[in-house]
Amino acid sequence: MKFELNFTNKIVCVTGAGRGIGKSIALGFGSLGAHVFLVSRNMNQLQETAQEIIQAGGEASPLVCDLSKVDEINKLVTGIKKISPKLDILVNNHGANIKLPSETYNEEDWDLTLDTNLKSYFFLATAVAREFMIPQQSGKIISLASIGGLTAIVKSAAYCSSKGGVIQMTKVLACEWAKHNIQVNAVGPAYIKTQLVKETLKNKDFVKSLMSRIPAGRCGEPSEVAGGVLFLASDLANYITGHTLMIDGGFSSFGI
Ligand SMILES: NC(=O)c1ccc[n+]([C@@H]2O[C@H](COP(=O)([O-])OP(=O)(O)OC[C@H]3O[C@@H](n4cnc5c(N)ncnc54)[C@H](OP(=O)(O)O)[C@@H]3O)[C@@H](O)[C@H]2O)c1
Repeated sequence: MKFELNFTNKIVCVTGAGRGIGKSIALGFGSLGAHVFLVSRNMNQLQETAQEIIQAGGEASPLVCDLSKVDEINKLVTGIKKISPKLDILVNNHGANIKLPSETYNEEDWDLTLDTNLKSYFFLATAVAREFMIPQQSGKIISLASIGGLTAIVKSAAYCSSKGGVIQMTKVLACEWAKHNIQVNAVGPAYIKTQLVKETLKNKDFVKSLMSRIPAGRCGEPSEVAGGVLFLASDLANYITGHTLMIDGGFSSFGI
């Protein structure tokens, strides 16, 4: 085995690739030789990501899909199959949070969060496994969990439930598909500077409290999450499966 990160000839699908963490992950794969399918609901943002990858010498194809809907997921996978006979790596990254006190949550808020953050991860992973990875007897699936999957983030009951679900789902899929040489892992970021947490990070009292809980003393960058995803997607991680790699500046290790 070569000790290197190289995705030449690898076909990758990154969801939520129009901005934030997903964009950084997609740029990382593109710069290391992969052909990257970029997915979200916003074609303009996806085309910007694709342009950056192509200008840097890589290959990318933008595809629009509302991943909260299972019929759209199935159409997406059928569409990828028409373009590519194989898919080596899936990164389930898209996500949303509706921040509200739990007693004010309605069914629509709950369903939207769980459909976007958990149901879609399951149905995209299973479609990709069935159509590509089980037949080819290889594959890597990496999903975005969160510190919210391990600890409580107030006013984010649905989000935390979905991310806890991602950690558990990762373990089950890893155990079911190890025999097919498919490794299934997750990463669990703390606060990363993106649109998702922009409003939260405007609250100075919250940020002060947050910094006292993060040994590294700062928020993370999207590229620092991308680094963990690229490692888990590489041959360097062939014997790692069912694991959630926390990328949190020490947040989840900190006691006192
Ligand atoms: N930022 C953090 O501090 C942090 C911490 C822990 C975990 N995470 C996780 O990391 C992942 C990326 O977060 P981020 O911070 O980069 O968020 P972001 O900047 O808000 O980006 C989210 C991406 O997901 C896409 N998306 C949302 N709903 C979608 C849907 N129904 N169908 C298709 N695409 C959809 C968005 O595109 P469109 O809306 O244009 O479709 C966008 O490209 C999420 O799973 C998040 O929970 C983030």
